[in-house]
Amino acid sequence: MTATVESAALVGPGVGRIDGPAKVTGAAHYPSDYTYPGLVHASLVRSPVSIGRIRRMRTAAAEAAPGVLAVITPFTAPRLHRAKRNMMTPPPVPPLQDDEIHHYGQYVAVVVAETPQQASAAARLVEVEYAFDAPVLSIRHPDAETRANPYHIDMQRGHVETGLESADVTVDATFTTSEQAHSPIGLFATVARWEAGRLTVHDSTQNPFHVRDVLAASFRVPPDHVRVVVPFVGGAFGAGLRVSPHTILAALAARTVDRPVKLVLTRPEMFTGVGHRPDTVQRVRIGATRDGALIAIDHEGTSTGSRGLNVLNPITSGTVAAYACPNVSSRDNRVELDIPPISHMRAPGEAEGNFALESALDELSYALGIDPIELRLRNYAEVHPQTGIAWSSKALRECYQVGAERFGWSRRTAEVGSIRDGHWRIGYGMAGVSYGHFQEDCRARARIHRDGTAHVQSGVPEIGVGTMTVITQVAAEALGLPLMRVEFALGDTDMPRAPFVGGSGLTAALGGAVLDACRNLVREFLDRAAEDDASPLKGCGLADVVLVGGRIVRRDDRRSGESYTEILTRHGLDALGADGESSRPPGEIGTQVKSLIVSRHGRRVQKLVSRSKGTVPAGAFAARFVEVGVDPELGLLRIRRVVSAVDAGRVLNEKTARSQIIGGTIQGIGTAMFEDLITDSVTGRIANATFGDYLIPVNADVPDMDVVFVGQPDATTPTGVKGVGEIGYMGIPAAIANAVFHATGRRLRSLPITIDQLL
Ligand code: MOS
Repeated sequence: MTATVESAALVGPGVGRIDGPAKVTGAAHYPSDYTYPGLVHASLVRSPVSIGRIRRMRTAAAEAAPGVLAVITPFTAPRLHRAKRNMMTPPPVPPLQDDEIHHYGQYVAVVVAETPQQASAAARLVEVEYAFDAPVLSIRHPDAETRANPYHIDMQRGHVETGLESADVTVDATFTTSEQAHSPIGLFATVARWEAGRLTVHDSTQNPFHVRDVLAASFRVPPDHVRVVVPFVGGAFGAGLRVSPHTILAALAARTVDRPVKLVLTRPEMFTGVGHRPDTVQRVRIGATRDGALIAIDHEGTSTGSRGLNVLNPITSGTVAAYACPNVSSRDNRVELDIPPISHMRAPGEAEGNFALESALDELSYALGIDPIELRLRNYAEVHPQTGIAWSSKALRECYQVGAERFGWSRRTAEVGSIRDGHWRIGYGMAGVSYGHFQEDCRARARIHRDGTAHVQSGVPEIGVGTMTVITQVAAEALGLPLMRVEFALGDTDMPRAPFVGGSGLTAALGGAVLDACRNLVREFLDRAAEDDASPLKGCGLADVVLVGGRIVRRDDRRSGESYTEILTRHGLDALGADGESSRPPGEIGTQVKSLIVSRHGRRVQKLVSRSKGTVPAGAFAARFVEVGVDPELGLLRIRRVVSAVDAGRVLNEKTARSQIIGGTIQGIGTAMFEDLITDSVTGRIANATFGDYLIPVNADVPDMDVVFVGQPDATTPTGVKGVGEIGYMGIPAAIANAVFHATGRRLRSLPITIDQLL
C-alpha cells in the first residue's frame, strides 16, 4: 500500500537536468578530473601486430627518459588473477601476463611518469620485437570458422521451409552491417590510488560494482577493500559494461610506483581498447500470401567476435517477437577472428537484426503493392507471438498511427522516385521496433534530515542520460517534497548496490528501488507517530495519509498532520533513513530471455519462453519515420526529417526521454550513413582510428526531429517505465534505407550507405 502523494506533477513534462549547472561550470567530476597529491601518469604501449609473440623488449631508453618512474612489461609485471564472469560478459584476460599477442592494439607495456607528456614520450621509446603470424581478420577469410552462437539463443516455431514453399510471394535478401567504434566524447580513464592495502578507483564505467569485483579478484584483495567512485561518465553505450584491461593496468601501475596514477586513453586507443560493435552478415527470407499475411520468416545472422571472448550479441532473436507469423526461425552464428575485443553497443545485435528484418519487410511491401504500415498492421502481434501470452502493454499500433499522422505519411505517393524537390529525389521510409529491456536487481537508500531535506543514494553512475534528474523526481514525488529539497547522490560502491547502467533497464530498476526506499521511509515516520499521543498521525498507516509539501497529513482530515521536521524534532532525531530494493520482474520476456541467456547460457530459454507460468512479455515499441533527399548525380544523401513515435510506458521526464530518443536517432544516422571501422587486411591495424577518419554524424547531418510518446504506464515496473536507452537507436537504419529505396529504387542492404552506392 502506498501513501498518496500530492505534489505539483514533478513527474511528466520534465524539468531541466539537475546536474546541468555542475556540468557546465566544471564542478562535476568525470573520472579523468580526479587528482591527488603525488599523482603520476601512465601511458600505454600497444601491439602493432595482430597475432604472434613478443620476442624481445628493450626498455632501458624509456626507463632513462625524464620523469619516468616505471616501465611495466609482461616480463616484469606481477601475477594477476582472473575474475569471475559477470552477468553480461566474461572477465577481461589479465593484461601483461605473458608474451602472446592476440589482437592489434593489445597492451604490451605501461609507462609511468611524473607528467602525461613524459609518460607518452617514454612509451614511444619502448622497443618491442615481435614474431608474428597472418591473422584471420574478416568474416570472408577462407579460414574464418562459423559456429553456432555459444549462448544458444536460436528460436523457432512452426515449419519455416513448408511455410516458405506455400507462400505466394517471397523475399530472400542478404544484409551486412559494419563494425563501429565506441565514440563517447569522454575518453575512458582510470585514476587509481592505493592506501594501506585499499584501492580507490575512478573509472569510466557503467558498472562500478563490477569494476570493484574485478579489481578485487585481480589483486586478491577483499571486495570491500576496493572503492569505485564515479558519479559522472562522459557518455557510454555499452563499452563500460565490462572491465577493460586499462583499468586493471592503472591499478597495477599505482601499486608498482606506490603513487596515485591517472591513465586516460587516447582516441586511437579507444578504437582498440574498449570494444566495438561487430559487423554482421544476415540472410532474411520472408513468405507471405497475396494479401500480405506473413506465412514464414527465416532469419539467420552471423556476427564477428574476438577469439576467446564470447560476448552475447543477439542479432535475430528479436525477430520471433516482432510479428504474428506462424512459422519463424531465428539463428545466430559467430565467427571468431584475431581482432580487438568486441563489446556491447546500444541495442547490441538486435538493432542490426531490426535493420535486416524491417528492410526485408519493406521489400515485401513493394512486391505485394501494400503500404508498408498497412503490411505491418496486417501482421500485428496482438499477443507475444512466440508464447501467445498478452503483452504487459503494447501501443505499437498507436506508434504507427500517431507517427504517420505527424510525419504526413498520407502524402507519400507509393511509386518509387515519384516525389521530387528540385533536383533532389525525396523518399519516405519507416520501420517498426519491438524491444525488450533488461532489468536487474537494485538497491537504494533514502533519508530525511531535520532541516527537511531528503537524501537518496544508490551506487550507480550518471552516464549522461538523465538518471540523476529523473530519480530525484521520483524521490521528490514519493516523499511529497519539492525537487529542491531532494538530493540524489550516486556513483560510489560504498552506496547501496546498483546494477549496470544499460540494457534500457536502469530507470526501471533504480526507480523501483527508490520508490521502495521512500515508502519504507514514510513508514518509519509513521511508526514514530504510531504510539505518540502528541501526534495527529497517531495510529495512521500508509494508506491513511497523504504526503504534501514536506508534510504527512491525514487523508480524512487534511488540516491534521505534521512535517517530517516536526516528527524528527519531537523524537530528538537528526534523521530517519530506510533502505529499498527492486528485483528483476519474474517473467518479462525481454528480461527473462536475456537474463537466462547470460546466467545459464540460455540452455533453457526456448522451453521457458514457450511455457513459463506467470510470464509477462514486456518491452518498448516504436515506429520511426524518415524523409530523405538523394542527389543521384552527386551521390548525396540527406536526412530531411525524422519522426519517432515511442511507447516507453510512463515517461518520467519528457525532456530527458526525448533527448535519449534524439541521441539514439543520431547514432542510427551514424550507423546508416557513416560509421565503419576499417581494418588493414594484413596487419589488423585499425586504419581510421581518429575522428578525422572515422566518421560520425555532426550537426549538419542531423535534421529537426519530432519525438512523440504514446502508450500507458506499464504494470510490470513500479514507476510504469519501459526504458528509453536503446529504442531510440533501433529502426533508424532501416527507415533510412527504406526511404532511399522509395527515393531511388535502389535497395541498399549494406551499411553504411556510401556515395558510391547512390551514384
Ligand atoms: Mo547498453 S549496450 O545496454 O550500454
